[in-house]
This record gives sequence, structure tokens and C-alpha cells, in this order.
Amino acid sequence: MIKHCLFPAAGYGTRFLPATKSMPKEMMPVVNKPLIEYGVDEAIQAGMNSMAIVTGRGKNSLMDHFDKNYELEHQINGTNKETLLDDIRELIDGANFTYIRQREMKGLGHAILTGKELVGDNPFAVVLADDLCVNEDQGVLAQMVGLYKQFRCTIVAVEEVPADETHKYGVIAGEHLSDDLIRVTDMVEKPEPGTAPSNLAIIGRYILTPDIFEHIENTTPGKGGEIQITDAILKQADEGCVIAYKFKGKRFDCGSVDGYIEATNYCYQNLYLQDSQVELKKAPTEKQDG
Ligand code: G1P
Repeated sequence: MIKHCLFPAAGYGTRFLPATKSMPKEMMPVVNKPLIEYGVDEAIQAGMNSMAIVTGRGKNSLMDHFDKNYELEHQINGTNKETLLDDIRELIDGANFTYIRQREMKGLGHAILTGKELVGDNPFAVVLADDLCVNEDQGVLAQMVGLYKQFRCTIVAVEEVPADETHKYGVIAGEHLSDDLIRVTDMVEKPEPGTAPSNLAIIGRYILTPDIFEHIENTTPGKGGEIQITDAILKQADEGCVIAYKFKGKRFDCGSVDGYIEATNYCYQNLYLQDSQVELKKAPTEKQDG
């Protein structure tokens, strides 16, 4: 039902300098996979097959990652390292990838608007790759697609955060429909400390209906002088319906060093070591293996 997933990926990743000086932050590895690949996996698991990536200057390695590398494949053909590429090969075969460059950084709303041509007049998902989300049974986007089928309106994923952290997020308030569903009546981008309407913070997973583009076009710069997606979604909430969903699973803020380390430890213990193919896939450590 929802085929497109948009990945705003033009940002500079300044919190990780100098690592991100010439490498996109979305390519930072968590164990042996770049961050953005976790997001693409989640989108594919949710039934999406069209990955629309909003890139910027210096981000060409993102495109290379989701493409064949004939030279490398030729080199490791028939060796014990070939299986290391199984997952990414499957992923590349299972989806198509389109790209557009955001020439100026004018905020998340502007980045999403830049992707308009790639997603067309369809409901679509948005993944902010530096929020890494994991859940054993069903990924967060798949959970949200289920809700979209029920409500047919914009859905945002939220989680409770400590009161002294609300200023880092978009924060929602509204009417509780159940323990994990809230009909949004208010949304504030990065409220000043002590002024947040609740402790429910938006995390980087959205399903947006295509009328969002018109709302973004009519949104004036907000917090930090940027076009904020939060402000555009609030207009949808005022006119119709927006649902906030307390998702099942864990989320790591990989845009921060602490969150990145936590994600790495978690994924190593719970995904990498649990993989039944791990012996086959584990990168050979012997030096002669190259
Ligand atoms: C963006 C959004 C914010 C949201 C956050 C989730 O902020 O603007 O509403 O809570 O992502 O990670 P950023 O972290 O890009 O500043």
C-alpha cells in the first residue's frame, strides 16, 4: 500500500566531526552495516520498494553503496567472503533507489519537500537514518503501515523522553485514543526547556499523506530559522487528523556519540551474534584473508 520511503540524508552530521568530514553520517557503520542500510531494511520489511534518498554534496558513497561493485565482486568471487555481500545484494535486488540533491540546508521540512518529485502524489514514509529503531517481531515502519491502513492519515512515531530532553525534539500533545495512540492537537519543534506540551517526543519515523507538500510550501521558517516538518504536520492536525503512535521497540539516537555506542553494543549482542549465519558471515580476521 505504501511503496515509497524518503530518506533525508543531506545533513552534515556535525556532532560526529571529524568522522563525518568527508563521509556521510548515514554511512557510519553500526557493527558491519551502515546506518542507512538499517533504515532501508526496515522499509523493505514494511512492504516498501521505492527508496527515495535526498542527498547533498559529498554524499556520493550513499549511491555507490546501493549499487553493484563489479570489481569487488569479481575479486571476492568464490572466496569465503562472498557471503558478506548476501544481504546487501538481496536488498538492492528488492528495491529501487532514486536520488535528488538538496542544494541548500533549510531544514527537515525543506528536505522532505525536495523529495516531492521522487514520491509523487502518494502517501509515503520518512526515515531519519540516525534514529536506529529495532524490534524483534515487526519493525517500527511496519507497525505504522498497519495504523495507516486503519486511519488513512499522517502518523508520527513518538516515545516518552525525560522532561529535561524535550528541547531536543518535536513534542506532541493530544487526546489519547488508547495507551499507545494519541490524536494530535498540538506539536512544537524543540520547545524551550520547561515549556513542552508533554514528554512525548517525535522520533525519526513518519508516514505522511501527500497534502503535506502543500503545507510545507506554505510553512514559514520556524525554530532555528528552518522550515520545520513539525509545523507543517501541525497544519494537517488542525485541518484533519494526525495520529501519534508510541511504537513497540527500541530506538537509538545514533546522531549522538552515546546513542551510537549503545546501538553498536545492542546490535552486536542481539543481531550480529544471534545471526545463525554468523560463522559464515563474520569477517575473517586472519591477516592473509586480506
Ligand atoms: C528532527 C525533527 C524533530 C524530531 C527529531 C527526531 O530533528 O525536526 O521534530 O523530534 O528529528 O530525531 P533533528 O534531530 O534533525 O534536529
